[in-house]
Amino acid sequence: MILFEQEEIIVAKILRKEILTPQIKLMVVHAPRVAHKAKAGQFVILRINEEGERIPLTIADFDPREGTITIIFQEVGKSTMQLGEREEGDDIQDFVGPLGKEIEEKKFGHVVCVGGGVGIAPVYPKARALKMLGNRVTSIIGSRTADLLFWEDMMGSVSDVLYVTTDDGTYGEKGFVTSVVERVLKSEGADLVIAVGPIMMMKMVSLLTKKFNVPTMVSLNPIMVDGTGMCGCCRVTVDHQCKFTCVDGPVFDGHLVDYDELLARQRNYLDEEKRATETWLMKKAEEEVRHAG
Ligand code: NAD
Ligand code: FES
Repeated sequence: MILFEQEEIIVAKILRKEILTPQIKLMVVHAPRVAHKAKAGQFVILRINEEGERIPLTIADFDPREGTITIIFQEVGKSTMQLGEREEGDDIQDFVGPLGKEIEEKKFGHVVCVGGGVGIAPVYPKARALKMLGNRVTSIIGSRTADLLFWEDMMGSVSDVLYVTTDDGTYGEKGFVTSVVERVLKSEGADLVIAVGPIMMMKMVSLLTKKFNVPTMVSLNPIMVDGTGMCGCCRVTVDHQCKFTCVDGPVFDGHLVDYDELLARQRNYLDEEKRATETWLMKKAEEEVRHAG
């Protein structure tokens, strides 16, 4: 079924599943019509089943020839945990995409790509697209600890230089990605910085790049419902104007985003999310006991 000019809603089969870290999973799904149209920066919304919550995920990779889309997600609540239980060969009930706008693909010069935590996945196709256009790509990826790091090889394959940080120093340089960003900007400058990760990281990167006067793109992932610009759930303030992330973004000028408002809005539903996860885990445990008995 065609939703808008671009997006398609289909049933997608999970072809491959990989456990990247205890809570971060990768799935390659067969979605040829989505893969054919996908561009770096776009996202999909999926629903596991009829009753499922809609989960927006930035596309981590796409292969039009194989007809596949790769998604990477962190199990943070009921819906992502349920998705994580799906196995190779299972279907995902609704898989809608590609949604949102792609990044501007052109030769900028020196591009610095910053990926924090799960944000490493969505920064990869952006780095790849810009590298293929002849940009010099410096990538900086970071995680809290060595065990949470993934796709160092993938990022290395699309970067001229790759820096890795961990907050606790268990791998790569000790500290946040921002300390390397500052060093690179001081030593060689940049024509564009792309940052994807936690809101605080994107805020701190944007504050830094503003000081150095370097244009900056960030990719936002606020709570979404319909993903088509109708419910207003994903609104963010950019340059003092209300924007809908699902249709106006998800990539925005990092210097113009109101990060504090975004952080506050992200916290709005924490209690409900926690309750839904606890109830689901309790039901699951009861079912397991029933089956065992
Ligand atoms: P995390 O908290 O483990 O942080 C990852 C890295 O970001 C850290 O190692 C550090 O280098 C950097 N960082 C974190 N806080 C910072 C700060 N205050 N200053 C400077 N650098 C900082 O991240 P996580 O638990 O993997 O969470 C990833 C986040 O990314 C989630 O909040 C998720 O919503 C977001 N995300 C965004 C997208 C997107 O498309 N925008 C996609 C996936 C995930
Ligand atoms: Fe509803 Fe964007 S998710 S307007």
